[in-house]
Amino acid sequence: MRMVFLGPPGAGKGTQAVMLSEKLNFLHLSTGDILRENVKNNTEIGRKAKSFMDKGDLVTDDIVVAMMLDKIAKDAKDKDFILDGFPRTIYQARKIDEELDKLKIPIDLVVYFETSLKIVIFRLTGRRLCKDCGANYHIVNMPPKKEGVCDKCGSELYQRKDDKEETIKNRLDVYNSQTKTLIDYYREKGILEETSGDLDAGIVYEKLSGILNDRNKIRT
Ligand code: AP5
Repeated sequence: MRMVFLGPPGAGKGTQAVMLSEKLNFLHLSTGDILRENVKNNTEIGRKAKSFMDKGDLVTDDIVVAMMLDKIAKDAKDKDFILDGFPRTIYQARKIDEELDKLKIPIDLVVYFETSLKIVIFRLTGRRLCKDCGANYHIVNMPPKKEGVCDKCGSELYQRKDDKEETIKNRLDVYNSQTKTLIDYYREKGILEETSGDLDAGIVYEKLSGILNDRNKIRT
C-alpha cells in the first residue's frame, strides 16, 4: 500500500506516520526530515533548501520532486510506503502521479488530517525534537520523562527554527494558498479519506487503523 498523509503543519502527520510504520513496517518518507538531514549534512540540496525552510516557505518543486523520486526509486519501489509532507503543490502531485504510474506503483490512499488553527499553533510551539535520533515530543501533550532529554537515546532536545510563532504563521499561509487545494485533487480521484487531527494521538491512530481496515482489510 502506498499512502500520502496530508494536512496543515502540526496536524500530526509525522507522529501518525511513525506509529503506523513501526507497527506495519511501512517505509516513512518525510520530505521535511529528508530536507533537514540534507541541511545538517550541508549537501547541495540542503544549501539550496535552507533559506526557504527557515522562512517557512516551500522549497522549489524541482528540488523536492527530484529528491523524492530518487528516494522512491532507491528505497521504496518494492515496499509499502507513507509520503509525509509530500506532495504539497499541484505540480508535485501531478508529477509524482505521472512517475508512479510509469513504475506501476500508484498512490492507493490519501489521508487528510483536518486540524484546527488553535491546536496547530499550540502543538508547533510546544514541539521538541531529539538532536540525535529525531524522536518527537511535546512539552505538554507528550513530554519526555526528563525535561530536555530524549527518552529513547538520552540526547538533548531542541526546538525547530521554523516552530517560532512568526514562521508558523507563514507556514500556515503557505499551506492555505498552495497545499490545501490537494484535498480536492485527491477527492476527485476517489482516494481521499478524512479524519480529525485534533484528537488525542492514540485516538487518531485508532481512526486511521479503521480507515486502513475498511480499505484493505489490513490488520493494524
Ligand atoms: P515539514 O517538516 O514537513 O513540516 P510540516 O508539514 O509543516 O509538518 P510538521 O512536521 O510541522 O507537522 P506534522 O503534521 O508532521 O506534526 P507532528 O506529528 O510533528 O516541512 C518543513 C519545511 O520543509 C517546510 O516548511 C518546507 O520549507 C520544506 N518542505 C517539506 N516538504 C516540502 C515539499 N513537499 N515541498 C516543498 N517544501 C517542502 O506533530 C506536531 C507536534 O504535535 C509534536 O510535538 C507532536 O508530539 C504533537 N502531536 C502530534 N499529534 C498529536 C495529537 N494527536 N495530540 C497531541 N499532540 C500531538
